[in-house]
Amino acid sequence: MDTIKQYISENKERLLAELIALLKIPSVSADSKYKKDVLKTADFILESLKKAGCDKVELCETPGYPIIYGEKIIDKNLPTVLVYGHYDVQPADPLELWDSPPYEPVIKKTEIHPEGAIFARGSCDDKGQMFMHVKALEYMTSKGKLPCNVKFMIEGEEEVGSESLSWFVPRNKEKLANDVILISDTGMIANDIPSITTGLRGLSYVEVEVTGPNRDLHSGLYGGAVANPINVLTKMIASLHDENNHITIPDFYDKVEDLSTSERAEMAKAPFSLNDYKKALDIDAVYGEKDYSTNERNSIRPTLDVNGIWGGYTGEGAKTVIASKAYAKISMRLVPNQDWKEITQLFKTHFESIAPKGVKVAVTPHHGGQGYVTPIDNVGYKAASKAYETTFGKTPIPQRSGGSIPIVALFEQELKSKTILMGFGLNSDAIHSPNEHFGIWNYLKGIETIPYFYKYFTELSK
Ligand code: BES
Ligand code: MN
Ligand code: MN
Repeated sequence: MDTIKQYISENKERLLAELIALLKIPSVSADSKYKKDVLKTADFILESLKKAGCDKVELCETPGYPIIYGEKIIDKNLPTVLVYGHYDVQPADPLELWDSPPYEPVIKKTEIHPEGAIFARGSCDDKGQMFMHVKALEYMTSKGKLPCNVKFMIEGEEEVGSESLSWFVPRNKEKLANDVILISDTGMIANDIPSITTGLRGLSYVEVEVTGPNRDLHSGLYGGAVANPINVLTKMIASLHDENNHITIPDFYDKVEDLSTSERAEMAKAPFSLNDYKKALDIDAVYGEKDYSTNERNSIRPTLDVNGIWGGYTGEGAKTVIASKAYAKISMRLVPNQDWKEITQLFKTHFESIAPKGVKVAVTPHHGGQGYVTPIDNVGYKAASKAYETTFGKTPIPQRSGGSIPIVALFEQELKSKTILMGFGLNSDAIHSPNEHFGIWNYLKGIETIPYFYKYFTELSK
């Protein structure tokens, strides 16, 4: 199948231009201001699946944003690959930190991407990675190289918790029936160190509100005599970790699986430079749970982080005031076996219990989801591994990721199939951040590698 390389080189400009057109539509699912654009993006995906050779495409209405479904069934006796991705993106703010506007894609070279990278919101997460699958399908159908059946399911609410997809999947089990689920919405270690993501963390996201006196107070007249909600909130938050950076919520670690010494040794073999890591982030030291390495801290261990904190006076100059209220948004990344609803409840009970007299505390859960691990001895993983070997000339390293795609656990539960996470992004691609980008090399490498997955998966399934 050396013609995929040829196809890419003959069509390179078009493959890039089409992705750029997709990136120009600001499909921010979190902000209703962009509703029209999100819907326009759904139509764009529908059209591109049609053009890529799907026999049937559908815009499936849901309580929220539509799910785009497409399929090409060539023979009921052959295996079926279900591709999942998302067409929504994170908000682009803070806009002033972008070097070029987020929805006006530009190609620039970087140290890590000497062939150039496309800078735009969603370029890596997930429009660019999802679109690789559409283009790989286009190649396979147009050249008569599709070896099995394929279904696509592309949603528009991943960045806000996949609520509509959680509604859709259990109602459409037959339609979505498959032998393996294929997703490119994660990353790899480096362009010369391919890796396959074998795990995702779960998530529990909560908001807390601490209320003190019923109104803002003069900090001279009342300071020292009443509980200051900001002082109290920060003290409560600080108490959630002990001196070893262990989380102090009772029973929080009960279901956390401890990896064996040999599993940890295996993990430690993945290439990693602490110096480069520190340099890239301009920090003089790493920080985290005692007795765990950086790569363990960000993958196999659960975490608790404040994502935002506010209250009181933050305007120009000084205002002497004790605020009536203080707030924080807190995320907990969870590992497999930790149940996100249970953890949310543990957090709530604990946080309420540590509130001192003089304040009221309210904990509001947002979204969440379960973690995921996939074994590496199944046909799907083996096919992916062989595909990377073919196009990278190296065996990919299995690696658990710290990020979350909560819907993956639901796929396994409802559709009873394994998910293979073939991510082609890099941690330095700045997803969710200003100046998000995706390497052109990575985009094309993805398109090149995907057809081999289909080929090997079909062969190994026999
Ligand atoms: N694609 C990411 C998740 C990801 C990125 C996993 C890189 C592994 C490596 C996804 O779009 C995402 O941002 N997920 C959210 C959770 C979601 C419920 C908002 C996350 O991980 O914060
Ligand atoms: Mn994503
Ligand atoms: Mn994301």
